[in-house]
Amino acid sequence: MIYLTRRERFSAAHRMFRPDFSDEKNAEVYGQCSNPEWHGHNYELFVTVKGEMNKELGYAMNLKRLKKIIHEYVIEPLDHKNINTQVDFMKDKLASTENIAIAIWEILEPQIRKEGVVLHCVKITETENNYIEYYG
Ligand code: NI
Repeated sequence: MIYLTRRERFSAAHRMFRPDFSDEKNAEVYGQCSNPEWHGHNYELFVTVKGEMNKELGYAMNLKRLKKIIHEYVIEPLDHKNINTQVDFMKDKLASTENIAIAIWEILEPQIRKEGVVLHCVKITETENNYIEYYG
C-alpha cells in the first residue's frame, strides 16, 4: 500500500462566531478568531490518498491528477475568499478548521475514488501551532 500526500496552500478570511451569542460571549468562546471585523489565515492543506502500486506506471495515483482535483474543487473556491460569506461548501457552517476539513473530505472523497485510490486523510494547518486531521 502506498500513501501519497499533496500539499497545497490557501489564504482566506473567517470569523468564528455564533449569531445567537453576543460579541462578548463569542470572544469568550472563540478568542481572537471571533473578531467581528474578520481576520485571515495562511492555511496549509495536506491531502493523503492510499492505493496499490501500479507497477507499469510506477505510482499509486498520478500526482498531476491529484493536484488538478484539489485545485478545481478546493483551492479555487477557497483561496483569497471569506469562508463565512463566499464559499458555497461552508454555507451555514461555523468556519472552523475542523468543519473546513470535513467539508473538503466530503468534496474530495468521491473524486479521489474515481481515480481508483482511497482518500486517507485531510490535514489542515491553521497556524504553525495548530492542525486538524480528519480521516472520514
Ligand atoms: Ni481564525
